[in-house]
Amino acid sequence: MNWIKVFAPASIGNIGPGFDVLGLAIDTLGDTIQAKKIDESIVISEITGFDGLPKEADKNTVSIAASEVLKKLGINEGIEFKIEKGIPPGSGLGGSASSAAAGAFAANYLYGEKFSKKELIGPATTAEAFVSGGYFADNTAPSLLGGATLTREKHPLDIVSLGNIDELLVVIVCPDFKLLTKKAREVLPKNVPMKSFISNMANACLIASAFSKNDYNLFSRCINDEIIEPARASLIPGFLNVKKSALDAGADGCSISGAGPSLFAITNDKQKAEQIGKAMKESFAKSNLESNYYVCKSHKTGTSLVKE
Ligand code: HSE
Repeated sequence: MNWIKVFAPASIGNIGPGFDVLGLAIDTLGDTIQAKKIDESIVISEITGFDGLPKEADKNTVSIAASEVLKKLGINEGIEFKIEKGIPPGSGLGGSASSAAAGAFAANYLYGEKFSKKELIGPATTAEAFVSGGYFADNTAPSLLGGATLTREKHPLDIVSLGNIDELLVVIVCPDFKLLTKKAREVLPKNVPMKSFISNMANACLIASAFSKNDYNLFSRCINDEIIEPARASLIPGFLNVKKSALDAGADGCSISGAGPSLFAITNDKQKAEQIGKAMKESFAKSNLESNYYVCKSHKTGTSLVKE
């Protein structure tokens, strides 16, 4: 068999208050890998797109996820990978999870497609845990399945596909610095006030419901996160001003994407989306941070083979 090509979309996970449980696949950004069968070992022969990612097979989430899939299949074969990184590492856009999703998908495809995409979430999440320091599927699940997902990180994982909100536009603003998930998890509070717990729980449940019902207005009323966002805000220079600039430009909600430092804002108006992106970029510049913004929709199909 020759080379195959696989694309895995970026994701927001957590969506606002749904810490470690709610995730959303987004279009525009993603990782692409090529893979082919070889004898015995798993190797990465090329990484393009971004510097600084490990080529060692036991350190990169593409190869770790592939190795987990081969283990699950009970076979001792090899794969060569070429990785085209499209998601900036350490940006809060689920880059390591997308790589893991692509690696798991490719291994399964090359060796007989024995598992469903849902069954690949476990191996991909094990691989992501290697770099994030925690076992949670709020990026791997949407990246593999597409749309919004609800997951519980117990063994076995509980995974529910929630669907899409058709009119939703997500403005992602990605500042030019890395924030490691491990570091962003160290600042999390050990105890939570009951009032904040109730507010976040209600909002997270309502977000799940909003995606299931394709209800943009309900979603737009539920982004507020009283627990994780305030704890992480100080890790992102200018966070409060950037968020304010998004809301002033007409966004219906704004929060940190995953562990940050990217922010996401939502609207259902194309023109406003551009204005929101520009306003957030200008605001980051006031904190001496270059940034890029992307107007995205949800990625409906998730990880898939690229047909050429
Ligand atoms: N849910 C995780 C976090 C995702 O927010 O720490 C990190 O990519």
